[in-house]
Amino acid sequence: ETGLYTELLDVALEAARRAGALLHEERPEGLGVAATKTSPIDVVTEMDLASEKLITAYLAEFRPEDGLLGEEGANSEGSSGVRWVVDPIDGTVNYLYGRQDWAVSIAAETAGETVVGVVAAPARGHVYHAVRGAGAWLGGERLRCRPAPPLAESLIGTGFGYVRERREAQAEVVARLLPQVRDIRRSGSAALDLCDVAAGRLDGYYERGTHAWDYAAGELIAREAGALTGGRAGRPVGPDLAVAASPGVFDELQPLLEALGAWHD
Ligand code: IPD
Repeated sequence: ETGLYTELLDVALEAARRAGALLHEERPEGLGVAATKTSPIDVVTEMDLASEKLITAYLAEFRPEDGLLGEEGANSEGSSGVRWVVDPIDGTVNYLYGRQDWAVSIAAETAGETVVGVVAAPARGHVYHAVRGAGAWLGGERLRCRPAPPLAESLIGTGFGYVRERREAQAEVVARLLPQVRDIRRSGSAALDLCDVAAGRLDGYYERGTHAWDYAAGELIAREAGALTGGRAGRPVGPDLAVAASPGVFDELQPLLEALGAWHD
């Protein structure tokens, strides 16, 4: 098992490094929108597609039997029992605008459990990784989430979906949560929000409507740094709700979000 995890970690780190370098060093001058998905503001750039293509080719070369789920359409079963879950750019809108909070997110699952997670954020100069049972790291520095303050003194990250009706519901939850916490941040990258919980730069994070490629790697990184993660009503993190926080904060935040209806549109 350890040998497999080490191999998967090495493959994930190198794929993320290559995609990160392509994105960072070859960001086109007049980068525009190549296509839209669920709404006019849900954008894909030519660089999302190029990054997914690079990662898919790299994985096919070194792990040809594995399955793959990618945000921009890659989806294959594989026969090895390993599946990769890839977001070629998490934080596409930040990338489009030349902002810093975007990342390449690569996770490896076996038997449906994430065992390796890598989140590379070249514009921040950060590479985060975690291996199940072996801790979370920023480069060579071991990460630990922040000792929990009361929720009233917590800094909480969140994010919004791209569909207008969902945004209205999400804005209502924020309006009710904001007076009960220190403050709220919206970075524009779910993967980096989860890494920020791991690194103690946020006390907690929640979002409705994220996909496996947004949270798979970051959730493992948060958990391996000591954070608690979960979804609705004791269920695992899922598209209906993703919550990650320092243990004391999680215990207050998760039920409050449940009560505020953060999980529905
Ligand atoms: C998005 C980001 C954003 C979150 C959205 C995601 P993308 O991912 O993680 O922070 O609020 O829900 O869709 O589209 O940039 O890969």
